[in-house]
Amino acid sequence: MLEVRELAFSYRKGSAELFDGLTHSFAPGATTAVTGRSGRGKSTLLYVLGLMLRPTRGDVLIDGRGVGRRDDQSRSRVRSNDIGFVFQDAALDPTRTILDAVVEPALYAGARRRDVLPVARELLDRFGVGGRAGHLPGQISGGQAQRVAIARALVTSPTVVLADEPTGNLDRDNAETVLRALRDCATEGRTVVIATHDPFVLDHVDHVLAL
Ligand SMILES: Nc1ncnc2c1ncn2[C@@H]1O[C@H](COP(=O)(O)OP(=O)(O)OP(=O)(O)O)[C@@H](O)[C@H]1O
Ligand SMILES: [Mg+2]
Repeated sequence: MLEVRELAFSYRKGSAELFDGLTHSFAPGATTAVTGRSGRGKSTLLYVLGLMLRPTRGDVLIDGRGVGRRDDQSRSRVRSNDIGFVFQDAALDPTRTILDAVVEPALYAGARRRDVLPVARELLDRFGVGGRAGHLPGQISGGQAQRVAIARALVTSPTVVLADEPTGNLDRDNAETVLRALRDCATEGRTVVIATHDPFVLDHVDHVLAL
């Protein structure tokens, strides 16, 4: 269970405070879209939920434990084990193969490469990009890159999946495929949070949190 309690965040002292003391529980086994106009803090909320930024006020809780305010090392550990992050525009390292991109988060979490490889290959197959494992990110389409990014987020089998505008630059067919992949994550019991202003996504998620 992922929650925020009385959450607020400012990028620096004196700059505008985001989230206004937000308290919210994100439903497990469901997709939640975070919506709101540009600059409201959708991406920032994902970074706070993903423990990359520390709240200025309030906390992030996973299974009832406060984790948002812990030190960097503790937050990194929780992030590696419990959270998968799908960055905006996939954000894959252009110099490394698709397979390596998917394997990497599991190595950070302490797994051995030879144990992770079959898991990574299975995820790539599942999202229809297994044939691209040896390619570089520059050699695949935007829709394929976004599916690779989801495979990468899932390789550690996280309980929480966070996706920032995952359909932002995709045509309808690719957006549908990516959204289906995220909905499948929720069906498996994960908590899925999607920052988006795509009306198509808003129509197909279980819950909407408006900022
Ligand atoms: N690194 C940063 N340093 C300082 N201010 C920032 C930083 N990143 C974002 N902001 C500011 O914080 C606010 C929230 O930004 P954020 O990117 O979370 O909005 P968003 O809702 O995701 O917008 P969009 O729909 O355009 O993606 C904005 O006012 C933005 O200018
Ligand atoms: Mg954003």
